Amino acid sequence: MSLNNILSDYVLNLNESATLKMSQMARKLKAEGKDVISLSIGEPDFDTPSFVNEAAKKALDNGFTHYTPVPGLVDFRHAIVDKLKRDNDLEYDINNIVVSNGAKQSISNLCQALINPGDEVIIFTPYWVSYIEIVRLAGGMPVCISASVDNDYKVTSEEVKEAISPKTKFILFSSPCNPTGSVYTKAELKGIADVVDQHDDIFIVSDEIYEYIIFDGNHHSIAQNEHIFNQTIVVNGMSKGYAMTGWRLGYIAAPHFIAKACAKIQGQVTSGATAFGQKAAATALRAPLTAPIQMRDVFLKRRDMMLSELRKIDGLKLSLPQGAFYIFPDCSAFYGKSYNGKVINDSNDLAMSILQEVHIALVAGSAFGAPNCMRISYAANEDQLQEACRRLQKYFGELN
Ligand SMILES: Cc1ncc(COP(=O)(O)O)c(C=O)c1O
Repeated sequence: MSLNNILSDYVLNLNESATLKMSQMARKLKAEGKDVISLSIGEPDFDTPSFVNEAAKKALDNGFTHYTPVPGLVDFRHAIVDKLKRDNDLEYDINNIVVSNGAKQSISNLCQALINPGDEVIIFTPYWVSYIEIVRLAGGMPVCISASVDNDYKVTSEEVKEAISPKTKFILFSSPCNPTGSVYTKAELKGIADVVDQHDDIFIVSDEIYEYIIFDGNHHSIAQNEHIFNQTIVVNGMSKGYAMTGWRLGYIAAPHFIAKACAKIQGQVTSGATAFGQKAAATALRAPLTAPIQMRDVFLKRRDMMLSELRKIDGLKLSLPQGAFYIFPDCSAFYGKSYNGKVINDSNDLAMSILQEVHIALVAGSAFGAPNCMRISYAANEDQLQEACRRLQKYFGELN
């Protein structure tokens, strides 16, 4: 019997998450006793702040172990509304908010709620790995606008204007961006907002999950542009800023009819997110931003150390990432060269060769729609990062 007759066409055509695949391979080499440094993961290496853990324990003791309302506990949604006012100067009520099992599910709900087969979604490229597959799963057609290291991996409002077609449903991007660390300025966001303002049936999905990991100036949300506020859905969550990846808590702030539609979908799929987790997350959001800021400061130190080491490698083209915890060098100058007799033709070859030869797990840029690049996560301790830089310098020095 052929498995192809059993599994759906969709899953057979689905791309496996490249970041997860790389982590698996790194684990395998580690199990074989290799000293692998894993810089492929997209999660902070810090523990969840202890006051958040304590709040979860208290919530368990107080009986928050039952089903929750599908869009989220009222208390948590109030905390989110207050956070959006405090940090982003955005006015919502709790009916604008839907809490999900991670921002990934928030984006999936949105795609299911907004996309009809054949609708186009404009995705700023390099993009977060899952955007493409989530859009496709909903029957949508990703339309990628590519930006390169030469323009700081940022898409311009002109390019957005050109990419819009009668089939465009929404625009999807993250700022700060995974994988590039690029951050859109207030003026750049306004430019994009002005373009969208010309089309009252086009929406913007603004993924702001790295909001607190920003190194220069303040985070700006595109939703702050009043003229497109009702066309914008803000996506955010607890994973990155509070080191709460395993808690699986994300949320949207959206116009009421979209929030209602997302809750309708979620109600048939997973229902409300974990009760005690939401209570703890409400405590996190209500606290001063001390913990996210402390983590941000550590990331900044690491970024600067990494950049100064990576700049010593001739041929790597580097941007200055202003947020998140990734560096995204353009490595295309090395394509066509060989290591130990093996030719490196593209970013997949390069990531694989670096893993096998110097035991560093990175993610090939092709996973993010940027085949000239590779993603280096610096969510690892400083000793590991120093050692990784040494090995990368050696590796690139020996490519010929
Ligand atoms: C840009 C971006 N959006 C969303 C997510 C998903 O976050 P969550 O853990 O809340 O599902 C990630 C996680 O890597 C991400 O990088």
